[in-house]
Amino acid sequence: MTANTIQLDKQGRLKHFLTIEGLQKSLLVEILDFAESFAGVSGRAVKKVPLLRGKTVVNLFFEPSTRTSTTFDLAAKRLSADLLNLNMATSSTTKGESLLDTLQTLEAMHSDMFIVRHSNSGAAHFIAEHAGPHISVINAGDGQHAHPTQAMLDMFTIRRHKPYFETLKVAIVGDVLHSRVARSDIHALKSLGVNDVRVVGPKTLMPASIERLGVEVFNNLNEGLNDVDVIIMLRLQKERMISANIPSEQEYFDRYGLTFNKLKAAKPDAIVMHPGPINRGIEIDSQVADSDQSVILQQVSHGIAIRMAVMAMTMGNRPEGNI
Ligand code: CP
Repeated sequence: MTANTIQLDKQGRLKHFLTIEGLQKSLLVEILDFAESFAGVSGRAVKKVPLLRGKTVVNLFFEPSTRTSTTFDLAAKRLSADLLNLNMATSSTTKGESLLDTLQTLEAMHSDMFIVRHSNSGAAHFIAEHAGPHISVINAGDGQHAHPTQAMLDMFTIRRHKPYFETLKVAIVGDVLHSRVARSDIHALKSLGVNDVRVVGPKTLMPASIERLGVEVFNNLNEGLNDVDVIIMLRLQKERMISANIPSEQEYFDRYGLTFNKLKAAKPDAIVMHPGPINRGIEIDSQVADSDQSVILQQVSHGIAIRMAVMAMTMGNRPEGNI
C-alpha cells in the first residue's frame, strides 16, 4: 500500500502523517495556516486548547531525540490530550516483546494516536498498516526516509521570513545521503512551488539520482550558496556513516562548514537553518549558529505549533473557526 493511500482518507484529509512525498500544495498550506493559529496559543497566558480533550497520545521513540520528542509532548499537552511517554529503554521490548505486541498492548488501553520515531525506514508506515482503524500514526523520523513534521516546521519558519515560495533559492548543505530531513524538505519545497532547490555536499554524501527529485547538485559550497535566500545546514549523521564518507571532520569543516566568510556568497538577508542537534565547528561555525541570520531556535519553537496542527488534523479537526 502506498503512503498516500494509507495516510489520506477518502476525502483527501490526513488520517496519518507519514511522509510529505505526494502531498498536494493545498494540504501543506492548510497545515501551515492551522499552525499559525496554534503559534498564537503558545503566546497566551494559558497555553491550552481543548481540541484533543479525551484523546490518548502515545510517544514511541525507539531512537534518541530532544527536539522532536519534547515538542510533541508539549503539543499534546497544549491540545489537552492525555499523554503516555513510553520509555523504550525500560519497556518490555528489552525482554524481547515484538513491535506488534507492544502496539496491541497500547491499543488495548484505547490509545488514539502513536507518535513514532524509529531507526528503520518504513517503521511508521508499517505501524500505520497494522494499527486499529481508530488510531492515527505520526512519523517523528524513520531511518533515512522521512521526517515530515520537521519539514513542515522548516516550511513554517521559511514562510515567516520569506513569504513567496515560488521565487526562493534554497540550498540544503551537508550529509544529504543519510538525511531524512533533506528528503522531506525537498518534497515540501517542490510541492510549495520552489523552483531553485540545490543540494550541496561531497560526492560521498550525495545519494545517487537525487536530481530526480528536481534539485541541482553542487559539490562546491561557494557555488551552491551563490545568491540563495535560505540555507538549510544538515547534521553529519555519524551514527549512519562509514569512515570513508568523509576524510576528517576538520577537512569537512574547511570545505562545507558554514562560516561568515562562506555565507557572503548568499543573499545578505539569507536565513540560516539547521534541524539540530548541531555539531558546532563541524557543520557550522558557532558565531554563525548564534548570529542574527540564524533561525535555528525559531525552528524549535515552531515545531510545537506545527505538531499541534498535524495532531489536531489527524484527529479530524479543521483550521476553520477560532481556537
Ligand atoms: N531535528 C530533530 O529531529 O532533532 P531531535 O533528534 O533532537 O528530535
